[in-house]
Amino acid sequence: MNLSVRIGSLTLKNPLIAASGCFGYGTEYAELVDLSSLGAIAVKGLFLGEREGHPPPRIVETPAGLLNAIGLQGIGVHRFVAEKMPELRARGAVVLVNICGTTLQEYVELAKILSDVEGVAALELNISCPNIKEGGITFGCSLHGTAEVVAAVRAATRLPVIPKLTPNVTDISSIAKAAEDAGADAVSLVNTFLAMAIDVETRRPKLSNIVGGLSGPAIRPIAVRMVYECRQRIRIPIIGMGGIATAEDVLEFMIAGASAVQVGTANFADPLIWPKLAAGIRGYGERHGLKAITDLVGTIDTNAREKEWISS
Ligand SMILES: Cc1cc2nc3c(=O)[nH]c(=O)nc-3n(C[C@H](O)[C@H](O)[C@H](O)COP(=O)(O)O)c2cc1C
Repeated sequence: MNLSVRIGSLTLKNPLIAASGCFGYGTEYAELVDLSSLGAIAVKGLFLGEREGHPPPRIVETPAGLLNAIGLQGIGVHRFVAEKMPELRARGAVVLVNICGTTLQEYVELAKILSDVEGVAALELNISCPNIKEGGITFGCSLHGTAEVVAAVRAATRLPVIPKLTPNVTDISSIAKAAEDAGADAVSLVNTFLAMAIDVETRRPKLSNIVGGLSGPAIRPIAVRMVYECRQRIRIPIIGMGGIATAEDVLEFMIAGASAVQVGTANFADPLIWPKLAAGIRGYGERHGLKAITDLVGTIDTNAREKEWISS
């Protein structure tokens, strides 16, 4: 089965992408994983400058999930380009750079800097991080803010522009439509869900930031529903994510309408997950006589349920 997928002008050799913040800058995993075997790597969110992030505790396990408030710790774009990109290029990785800003101008400046860097395949606009106080999610929570960032970055770069949407809104499909209308090449969804956990003995929040973002299998059915809703509303490709841990999960997102997927939290539990996911997808393709994985995208049969019900 042909596993390649297209995201705007970009062709990925398979639909499996490492999710931002869950695969470092890619280089950390290079001894374990053949970076060129992945469809792409979305690197940890980058600001212009270095950031320390929040103090610990920054991660808490919850039932079927992970709660984090890292606060976008990072080395900044200049160190990334100088220290990480040479190795990523040498290892043949397809690099999506996840960019973050507190102002519109920061997104634009990051886009301009990265547009000139060999080996950067696309920009993923992080307008959805729930763990920082300024910028980011405040853009992604409004139609106007989303359109504004996407249009400004679109005008500043020839790279594919992929805004990453937050699920912490009432109607994610209208945000996706605003992104499409503003010139996005694709959308990534979803980022984490705002959440919190409390230690009842001390009555203190378990995270230093008090609230954080929930990821992992707990969010998967909500994320699948959001991909399905966006697929009805927009024409550009969707990169789906949220709790993917098995090949079946990947297929579920693709049938709901995702052209590619990202895997985040599951990579922490099993960094060797990638070949297992690919093998599972291939096995499904053989069983179902699929020539190309793209033949599966958006093929959910919602009529079948109705027919079963009528005939029973
Ligand atoms: C520890 C951690 C750090 C993250 N950092 C980022 C980030 O820097 N930028 C971003 O867009 N998303 C970030 N995310 C969100 C993930 O990329 C992904 O959207 C989310 O975790 C849902 O996918 P999953 O359930 O497969 O982890 C982070 C998630 C986790 C768990």
